Amino acid sequence: MSATITRRSLLRATPALAAAGVALAPLPRLAVAAEPAAATTGSIRLAANENPNGPSETAREAIRATLPEAWKYPYAEEMELRKLIAAREGVSPQHVMIGDGSTEVLRVAALANGLEHGEVVTTACTFAMVREYSEALGAPVQALPLDADMRFDLAAIRARMTPATRLVYLCNPNNPTGTRLPGASVRDFVASAPKEVLVIVDEAYLDLHEDFLDHTALPRVIAGDNVLVTRTFSKLHGMAGLRIGYGLARPDIIKRLERLRISMLSLVGLRAALASYQDLNFQAYSRKALREARTITDAVLDELKLRHTDSQANFVFFDTGRPFAEFSQAMQKRGIQIGRPFPPYTTWARVSMGTVENMRAFAAAAREHFRAS
Ligand SMILES: Cc1ncc(COP(=O)(O)O)c(C=O)c1O
Repeated sequence: MSATITRRSLLRATPALAAAGVALAPLPRLAVAAEPAAATTGSIRLAANENPNGPSETAREAIRATLPEAWKYPYAEEMELRKLIAAREGVSPQHVMIGDGSTEVLRVAALANGLEHGEVVTTACTFAMVREYSEALGAPVQALPLDADMRFDLAAIRARMTPATRLVYLCNPNNPTGTRLPGASVRDFVASAPKEVLVIVDEAYLDLHEDFLDHTALPRVIAGDNVLVTRTFSKLHGMAGLRIGYGLARPDIIKRLERLRISMLSLVGLRAALASYQDLNFQAYSRKALREARTITDAVLDELKLRHTDSQANFVFFDTGRPFAEFSQAMQKRGIQIGRPFPPYTTWARVSMGTVENMRAFAAAAREHFRAS
């Protein structure tokens, strides 16, 4: 029997959540500066949602070829990448902003809002960049619980918005749960949001799934809504260390964000991104490798009868049934680093997908741990 969660099974299975019902109590503040670096030498890194199957050979070749030219500022390459992305996405280059990872695009959007002290509405159990940066800027933040399926609760977010709300942050699929909202409901939410509210739809993990075109919020960018879609080369392309991401929005929004930019990009990163973006074979390979890694992971969790989300991302979120630290320490002893705790899911763990070999090692370690305990 699959232990993939459903709304009912989650409520049945997790007493604390069942007691709280759908409207979970206010959540404690999360301490999520960024994903943990988790860099113990010799250990298997399954903690930061990276993709060890990259960078592609074409990106590596571009990196090697670029090194002798690294004395140049990357003005032309940034515009080249904007044009390339624009052509595939069906927008103009003025709809595209390239950032030092999607982190920079997210931060700049939070900065633009924070300078005007606009209220932010989001979810507590998600990638925390926008919330934390907004808080650092003194912007009020409403961080709501996920729904009973561990997804963004769009109705609750809508209900919580006030006349002071200027920014909504959605993450689809969500980190750390891996749950994905249907694209149509995200697009409806964006289309019906008040015009003065910028809705960020963070799609860092969306293109890991073949059907991502059905679920992207990009059509609302094209329709001219007040929306910013963010994407990254860190996940599908396996280039987290090269720091290239991008945002897609109406040209007037991009112009406003560009004025607040902090970084200038790396020529090497841009050339690698240009190569990888055009390397559709590598992207297909990357998705296939991820699917294999997830199949191994889901299978061992099912075998051990551990509830887990039906993840659409490069990590799986599952209930260890015991305080998170127990499992995390047990994995560390076996040379495997996994994600940090994600309140209020204090018994749940997030394991990032590594190589197929990494996941076989994780499966063996998990079997050993749960069969012994
Ligand atoms: C949901 C989400 N968005 C954005 C990022 C930032 O990615 P990057 O800055 O590498 O593009 C991450 C990183 O893990 C993430 O989980």
